[in-house]
Amino acid sequence: MLKLRKKAYMQLPGNEINIPFFFQRCWLIFIRTSVRCPVRAVSAGPARMPLLICRHIINNGKEQSNMKRITISVLFAMTACSWIHAQHTLTVKVNEPKASIQPTMWGIFFEDINLGADGGLYAELVKNRSFEFSKPMMGWTVLGKPLTEGDFTVLNRLQQNSANPRFLRVTLHNNTKGSIGLNNEGFRGMGIKKDLRYDFSVLYRQTAANVKMYVELVNEKGEHIGGGAVATSFSGAEWRKQTLSFNATAAAMKAKMNIWFEGDGVIDLDMVSLFPEDTWKKRPGGMRADMVQLLADMKPGFIRFPGGCIVEGFDLSQRYQWKKTIGPVEERQLIVNRWNFEFPHRAAPDYFQSFGLGFFEYFQLAEDIGAEPLPILNCGMACQFNSAELVPLDQLDPYVQDALDLVEFANGDADSKWGKIRAAMGHPAPFHLKLMGVGNENWGPQYLERLKIFTKAIKAKYPDVKLVNSSGTDPNGARFDYLNTELRSMNADIIDEHYYRKPEWFFSNAKRYDNYPRTGSKIFGGEYAAQSDKTVSVDNKNCWLTALSEAAFMTGLERNADVVSMASYAPLFAHIDGWQWTPDLIWVNNLQSYGTPDYYVQKLYSLNKGTQVVPITLNNEVVAGQDSLYAAACIDAKTNELIVKLVNASAKEQTNTISLEGVKKLAAQASLTVLQSDNLYSINSFDQPQKVAPKESAMAVKGKKINLVAAPYSFSVFRVKMM
Ligand code: AHR
Repeated sequence: MLKLRKKAYMQLPGNEINIPFFFQRCWLIFIRTSVRCPVRAVSAGPARMPLLICRHIINNGKEQSNMKRITISVLFAMTACSWIHAQHTLTVKVNEPKASIQPTMWGIFFEDINLGADGGLYAELVKNRSFEFSKPMMGWTVLGKPLTEGDFTVLNRLQQNSANPRFLRVTLHNNTKGSIGLNNEGFRGMGIKKDLRYDFSVLYRQTAANVKMYVELVNEKGEHIGGGAVATSFSGAEWRKQTLSFNATAAAMKAKMNIWFEGDGVIDLDMVSLFPEDTWKKRPGGMRADMVQLLADMKPGFIRFPGGCIVEGFDLSQRYQWKKTIGPVEERQLIVNRWNFEFPHRAAPDYFQSFGLGFFEYFQLAEDIGAEPLPILNCGMACQFNSAELVPLDQLDPYVQDALDLVEFANGDADSKWGKIRAAMGHPAPFHLKLMGVGNENWGPQYLERLKIFTKAIKAKYPDVKLVNSSGTDPNGARFDYLNTELRSMNADIIDEHYYRKPEWFFSNAKRYDNYPRTGSKIFGGEYAAQSDKTVSVDNKNCWLTALSEAAFMTGLERNADVVSMASYAPLFAHIDGWQWTPDLIWVNNLQSYGTPDYYVQKLYSLNKGTQVVPITLNNEVVAGQDSLYAAACIDAKTNELIVKLVNASAKEQTNTISLEGVKKLAAQASLTVLQSDNLYSINSFDQPQKVAPKESAMAVKGKKINLVAAPYSFSVFRVKMM
């Protein structure tokens, strides 16, 4: 029997470890002790096992040296947790609501990082469509042999068009079709779907209509998979937009686009573009539908945009300026993406912001998916990890004006200055902006000085707009303490806290907000993600352990919904061939996308948000790590349901009796959704996108005591109607 138990233990995550003989001996001694004294063994266990597992994951590959740091007590605790089948009674006081859960509680954080926008959510397939990258021909290759030097030239009309100064001039000398052309490589190739319609467009001009253009898509082998002739019959000094639509004859993950020229003369080209027909809501020039669908499926309470550090920029010239991201796309001024060069080990020299996805589109996206828009604005500070440039206080006005104008753009009448632009873009009705962030992850007295100026001006004109303020980069330490104290004394509406920490931090911080002040500033967990290795490490994985630790931590956010009004995981998207930062909630390639285990945790919380927190206790204490259990409970007043969320972070199955007080009767059938894996290292992938995914079942309910068996390493959501 001892042998069997030892075998079971060795199959637990972490047990690929080659346990030194000394520890094995301790383990055996412990087994003998614990058999005689199981109670003591259990009490040694609470919350310790996750720590051990995390430590192993974090040092994966260095098990031998890691073992030196494993203490006997943790080993004992782990052993105890692994085979004592515990039985608990969790009491839920259904008629004692403790706090209202804000509709904004669970949301999403969007930033153009990891090819999140260009090359990702923004469905444009042509890279550097307007030749505005620092290297104007990046992404483009000349095909064939131009006859003379200068047959392909980049012209710059900065004086006439400062937003989109460059265009390409092609000169032909009686060229036959196929003799010269251009190739665009797309963003890590172009994802093409068989039989789908593709919409090509270009701005062109030519003094005489002598040049013909042909577009073709080619697959990885260079085979033709669609295209056609572009009508270029207009001549004159004006720019004309010409379109061509065609169906792809085959699929390709990494196709490219060729443009072939024929004739004699000169043609100027700009805004060379290709979009799939199947964008979100079939909007021309729109977003990738599969990616938006994953967001819509979460029913998020809010969407924060456009970041993230991208708000701040490397220096102030590269900050995000919303006014340059609206109106016709050819008038939106491209700038470099700060993630282009932030991490030399993950450099993306072709990463720029075309702003095809701009503030109008973000507001529209928010509306589409039923999320409150939360724009974050630059507060006159460039990223403090980079240049840390500051706008002098006496020159802050334009920045503050941008904030005031944004409220008018979102909410103003269609005849107001900025509301008119919104209406002209197709949205006369307001977007109902209620939240705005001033500064991203800024810190120090310089931040507070600027924040005060913004706050005074915004509150004077728009007192109902709630402002999100930064508490810096970390959830603790001197910077945080300083800002937290100061912001509270300023009566900040909402304080944005960021936690990129190891899973063990998430497990052990499930009570973080239990002792926060109940009045005054609300908390926005604005960016968080468990790091299986360490922050900004390329080895971080979105594995089941990270997700489980977030689920455990989030029970504490929900329990403290009177303090925490919003939370969002970050970053949101990553392209498998173009990421800079990991972990990320959703991974994509050119054609597919999948949610990580962390995504499913976020989704389950959001879909089971509830309206009021109700107490759930174990031995009269909140359930936050005892025997590796974490729990939160709420009711949904709209549907009259009770929702219990339960995390079992141990390797053992745990039987829990949920004892309900303050309820007359329950429906005979409840629903149970379980996210579970026996392997804490499990990840989802393009091949196995649902390896860790929720499974739903119906559960019979009798009386007011519910038997909830929590599988090892599981996150369960139980929902029942109250009669
Ligand atoms: O989410 C990635 C980055 O982490 C964000 O841009 C920044 O706000 C934080 O440091």
